[in-house]
Amino acid sequence: MGPNGLHGNTVNLPSRGCKGYNWSGAEQNWRHAPQEYGAIHFHDDDLYDAGWEADFEYVVPEDLRSAVYAVRLKAEDDEWYVTFFVRPPRGTTTSKLAFLASTATYMAYSNYHWMLHERYSEVAETLWTTLDKGDVFLQEHAEFGLSTYDTHSDGSGVRYASRLRPVLNMAPKTPLWSFNPDTHILAWLEEKGIEYDVITDEDLHHEGVGLLEPYRAVITGTHPEYYTTPMWDGLRAYLARAGRLIYLGGNGFIWRCAFSPETPGVLELRRAEDGIRYRDEEPGEYYLEFTGEYGGLWRRLGMAPQALVGVGAVATGFDVSGYYRRKEASFDPRASFIFKGIGDDELIGDFGILGGGASGSEIDKADLALGTPPHALVVASSEGHSANTYLVPDETGFHHCAMDGAQNPEIRADMTFFETTRGGAVFSVGSIAWAASLPHNGFDNNVARISENVVRRFLEPDPFPMPD
Ligand SMILES: [Fe+2]
Repeated sequence: MGPNGLHGNTVNLPSRGCKGYNWSGAEQNWRHAPQEYGAIHFHDDDLYDAGWEADFEYVVPEDLRSAVYAVRLKAEDDEWYVTFFVRPPRGTTTSKLAFLASTATYMAYSNYHWMLHERYSEVAETLWTTLDKGDVFLQEHAEFGLSTYDTHSDGSGVRYASRLRPVLNMAPKTPLWSFNPDTHILAWLEEKGIEYDVITDEDLHHEGVGLLEPYRAVITGTHPEYYTTPMWDGLRAYLARAGRLIYLGGNGFIWRCAFSPETPGVLELRRAEDGIRYRDEEPGEYYLEFTGEYGGLWRRLGMAPQALVGVGAVATGFDVSGYYRRKEASFDPRASFIFKGIGDDELIGDFGILGGGASGSEIDKADLALGTPPHALVVASSEGHSANTYLVPDETGFHHCAMDGAQNPEIRADMTFFETTRGGAVFSVGSIAWAASLPHNGFDNNVARISENVVRRFLEPDPFPMPD
């Protein structure tokens, strides 16, 4: 808006909340000094709504079971999948268990070019970069837009990721990251005959605790990384009201992100100050455009994931995954249901298709100082991590020569269980690789067994008594 009435609209979400030519440095929050935040940061590769015309439509039949589906697009010998999520009709449920699809995280990763944009990607992953056909296609088709892991052509970080465009990597037959590994959990639920409804992050954002409350238990995907404030509040309220949460992932509940009713279908992220990130957020621009909230890690906002689910991110390592060993707390009668059918000395998850073990990729540990409840039981911890598994930046303020998994005993996943007031409970494995061990040996293995033991008990009505 201007004094001469020559108002304009922006398209494709150039960045707002940007320092103006007159920024004095006296304020960090654009809401406190809007007159110093008049700039708009345009990029030649901004994209919000691709605006494509529809070639066909599919109306979901009313009796289609709640689940994750995909439309297969096929032309000659090429095929692509368009994934979608069918929830039960609003206000109803068809199961006592809800699979909470991490659609905010899928969006953050949508069409990522990370391995092409990040010059240290091979040393970070300690793997040669392999490009699948989707990666090659995106390299050749910049018009499909970027993810929040990428950089604009001017070198600045991408803050917005939209689903109102073709998204190639939220699909089966894509690399095992973000969406696709979550299908291991769905496949395991199907295999074991455990009924579930599917709900999504955007549903949780809009409906809050009311969405979760009818469910006796909620199960996450492998990497529920991005949480808006309403999502966080909804999950926290659910746990405070006897909800039961099974966190079958790692590096979850890490970043505050935002949705806006004015620009539906897009996520905003500002990677302020700390955390695993591939570029620094522009100083002075840490406050989100969509909500005015301070961006960054929930941990830096004083709300670490340990206080929500008992564990939080500690390390990443992509070459070799470790396995879990039972700890003394696993023999506590409170935890006996978890280990039904598991031997005392049995190694848990020393197999799997992500690094050969159930503890890997990105792992979480318990930390009383960050809010793990004092009565939480760390029932197993992981071992066998590699020299290429490193502490996350938020876990170290000072680099030293013992930051790797071969040397540092703090680098481990803690399998954690605790009861909440009113009979609820939380079970966390703290590892992205966990679910990639579920299908081993035809879903007959100790990772699948422990997961099933927990789900079956969490679905029983009897409350979990709080320990004295
Ligand atoms: Fe991530």
